[in-house]
Amino acid sequence: PYPAFHSLQQHAPVHRTLMPDGHYAWIVTRYEDAVTVLKDQRFIKDFTVFLDEESRAQAHQSIFSRNMLFADPPDHKRLRGLVQQAFTPRMIEELRGRITEIANELIDDMQDRSQIDLIDDFAFPLPIIVICEMLGVPSEDRDKFRTWSNTLVEASNDPEKAEKVQQHMQEFTAYLQEWMTSRQENPQDDMISKLIQAEESGDRLSEQELYGVVSLLIIAGHETTVNLISNGMYALMTHPEQMRKLQEQPGLLRPAIEEMLRFEGPVEFSTDRWASETVELQGQTIQRGEHVLVALDAANRDPEAFEDPDVFDITRGRSKHLAFGKGMHFCLGAPLARVEAEVSLQTLLERFPDLQLSTDASDLEWRPGILMRGLTELPVRLK
Ligand code: HEM
Repeated sequence: PYPAFHSLQQHAPVHRTLMPDGHYAWIVTRYEDAVTVLKDQRFIKDFTVFLDEESRAQAHQSIFSRNMLFADPPDHKRLRGLVQQAFTPRMIEELRGRITEIANELIDDMQDRSQIDLIDDFAFPLPIIVICEMLGVPSEDRDKFRTWSNTLVEASNDPEKAEKVQQHMQEFTAYLQEWMTSRQENPQDDMISKLIQAEESGDRLSEQELYGVVSLLIIAGHETTVNLISNGMYALMTHPEQMRKLQEQPGLLRPAIEEMLRFEGPVEFSTDRWASETVELQGQTIQRGEHVLVALDAANRDPEAFEDPDVFDITRGRSKHLAFGKGMHFCLGAPLARVEAEVSLQTLLERFPDLQLSTDASDLEWRPGILMRGLTELPVRLK
């Protein structure tokens, strides 16, 4: 997508375009404008304010509608606050040891093989195991979560999967209901018990909101992290000089991950924003109710913001990339995603120092759909 992004940045930085589903949206591609839109509270998340009462009630029935990512102030703060306590960098750092164990276990399973799909065998299972353990999903139920999560990810790329999604969502909701009831009766030392208890102490989350937050954590945290690990490894394997540099100087791991986030960001476009009033941007008039999308991956390669933006350079140092968004909706899971990526890369490179792509880079395919940027598979030779 990058040549198209550069062309938009140059000729039509705020561009109204017809989306695949037949409606129009404004696409914002320059870094400065991206920051403006993400921070400007005239661009809101809850589109239901434009609907009549009946349609609004209907929209609110979906279990995904009541969560922080689709909420504006003051609801947003309430919905985010409770979960935020579990996602501070310090809390996440405590999980590093366990995440390393999980990474090693996944690698033990591939020891006897010479070739693997780095996505299916590693990048996909790792984050789902981690979030399930954090929430307190029993390990025997993890495969169900994997299936549901997979369906949702597929659906975000393919509207025709809607029916399957409906069925899986019913199963997912039923599971959550049963699971939460059991935790209510018998609290454990896990996130779901804490969320339920906080609710019971007279505070804030309704049952619907609790479903909303749990499903958001699973969805927002899954494919994104899969893509960070796999896009990151892809960038390294297709830039062997950078791979060598990282192997020689392990201290570059953190800046390397920031560069992976900038160079091949897992989230191509922000989630929807809606103009709550008429807004002028780059000489364009965005009317109230119109749809705005920020092209994060374009902003991260804006030549006005980054020198030689199309060069992958793990020594860039501190990065102001927008891969985790900006402003109020800045990614809640960023500390977790960073630790998962650090552990994954470190463990993979330590255990397979000769790891390399086992197919021609030009044969790799990117998943369809514009929201996410991720490969369909990543075949790798281990030794
Ligand atoms: C929000 C990216 C991993 C939970 C966001 C947003 C971005 C993003 C761009 C803002 C969307 C917008 O403003 O439209 C990423 C990337 C990840 C990642 C690139 C991995 C590399 C995770 C993980 C979790 C998570 C692991 C949790 C388990 C969330 C939540 C929000 C969010 C809850 C909504 C925050 C709010 O509305 O206040 N993420 N994410 N993310 N992310 Fe992540």
